[in-house]
Amino acid sequence: MKQDEFKQYDYFASSVYELKKPNFLESVNKISDEYLIKARILEPLDKIHPVMMTEHYFNDKRIKDFSSYVAQTAWNILQSQGYAMKDNQTFFSEMWTQEHYKSSDMHPHIHGNNTQIVAFYFLDTPKDSSKLVFHDSRLAKVISNLPEENVNNATIASSMVNFTPEAGTLILTNSYIPHSFSRHKSEQPLKFIHMSIGVSGISNNHIPEIV
Ligand SMILES: [Fe+2]
Repeated sequence: MKQDEFKQYDYFASSVYELKKPNFLESVNKISDEYLIKARILEPLDKIHPVMMTEHYFNDKRIKDFSSYVAQTAWNILQSQGYAMKDNQTFFSEMWTQEHYKSSDMHPHIHGNNTQIVAFYFLDTPKDSSKLVFHDSRLAKVISNLPEENVNNATIASSMVNFTPEAGTLILTNSYIPHSFSRHKSEQPLKFIHMSIGVSGISNNHIPEIV
């Protein structure tokens, strides 16, 4: 029987945003490497979880061009999604470098603590690097999902999608969408900056200085 044509309305979508920003690579990599050198001195690489993590450095003034760009992009995304952003500003709650060595991976997780947007900026992406994976955040669908016709296709039925990291690429998404990294298979490490961005009201309160 021929199917009647129907209108389709897609709501409750999960969006992932990708920007090519190789212009930040050189300057950001230099600062990131400084923090990595420090991290390597403080803690040796774990053999079971071979990943190096730096301290947070969003307050480092040298990275201001990059951090301002990412914070503004996060603001633009939230506004474009329909959030009332006029009296709100975005701010960093986390920004650190991760360096994943062969066999490292990362389980699905979300970031709390008032995080609204999570971002990744890829610095070094050798062949056979981990893939960045986003997971369906709708628990009811995850629990009741049917088997997919072809898991290699990204469809409305998909429960996860993956991205192949490329150096100079910035990827952002809403923080309620869980993310993970598949196992890293290269002899060379995968390196990226991971960021959590929150939202706070712009204060109009002016407290006069006491003279
Ligand atoms: Fe994360």
